[in-house]
Amino acid sequence: MKKVLIIGATSAIAEATARGFASRGDHLFLLARNAERLDSLLKDLRVRGAGNAQGAVFDANALHDHERLLSEAMDTLSGLDMVLIAHGTLGDQKACESSVESTLQELQTNALSVIALLTRLANHFERQGHGSIAVISSVAGDRGRQSNYVYGTAKGALSLFLQGLRNRLNRSGVQVLTIKPGFVDTPMTAAFPKGPLWASPEKVAGDILSALDKRRDVIYTPGFWQLIMLIIRSVPEAIFKRLSL
Ligand SMILES: NC(=O)c1ccc[n+]([C@@H]2O[C@H](COP(=O)([O-])OP(=O)(O)OC[C@H]3O[C@@H](n4cnc5c(N)ncnc54)[C@H](OP(=O)(O)O)[C@@H]3O)[C@@H](O)[C@H]2O)c1
Repeated sequence: MKKVLIIGATSAIAEATARGFASRGDHLFLLARNAERLDSLLKDLRVRGAGNAQGAVFDANALHDHERLLSEAMDTLSGLDMVLIAHGTLGDQKACESSVESTLQELQTNALSVIALLTRLANHFERQGHGSIAVISSVAGDRGRQSNYVYGTAKGALSLFLQGLRNRLNRSGVQVLTIKPGFVDTPMTAAFPKGPLWASPEKVAGDILSALDKRRDVIYTPGFWQLIMLIIRSVPEAIFKRLSL
């Protein structure tokens, strides 16, 4: 039985992962923005076998609340073995191009709020000397593309932060897992036409649970995205800049 904190817990990917934790009898504390959805998710997780499932309402961008909510989670669980950070927004790239505020908001939600949480959580895990930190980044952070480079910048910064954190916490025996999903069929991508590269939240959740068990460092999910991104990263910039991606 593990004591698990899930942040951004009503994300479709986080919900599917939470159901996996619950079926193992793990004790869960969930932070999510929507009180009603949080409440119904908690009820569902208890039915599915979570040893204990509690939660609190949270806005990732209310940075002044982070310390209090993290303390509440650790007090309620009597400790913390694992954290999954899942919240995010896929903002409108075109709107960001004409608005500094929209651009900075995207960076705030997808990178800075997560980095703020990680800065506090890292010290807890370092002192404790064990545990796992898992964060959902994205393949979009592997290379800047005109269609979503603001979101990609946030995820790329996050991936780099996690890489440094992993290097720091390795000596403390703490796992830092960077999760890089490709296209996942969730509310975030509801407006996109779907095709063969698309995965379900359940598939991604299964990969996250398995990577936590195996103490992996970085995963692409589904795994074929590792090859796709290897090819995309390998295209010389002189060619890449001419592509409509
Ligand atoms: N779907 C994809 O194709 C894909 C691909 C790569 C990476 N990802 C990443 O996967 C993660 C989960 O996304 P998803 O696909 O599961 O989409 P989702 O179901 O739309 O989940 C996004 C979650 O983020 C929450 N959120 C957004 N802003 C927040 C804030 N300021 N404070 C608290 N919560 C906030 C949303 O809460 P509300 O419901 O209250 O709005 C929602 O629960 C995200 O980090 C996303 O960037 C997704």
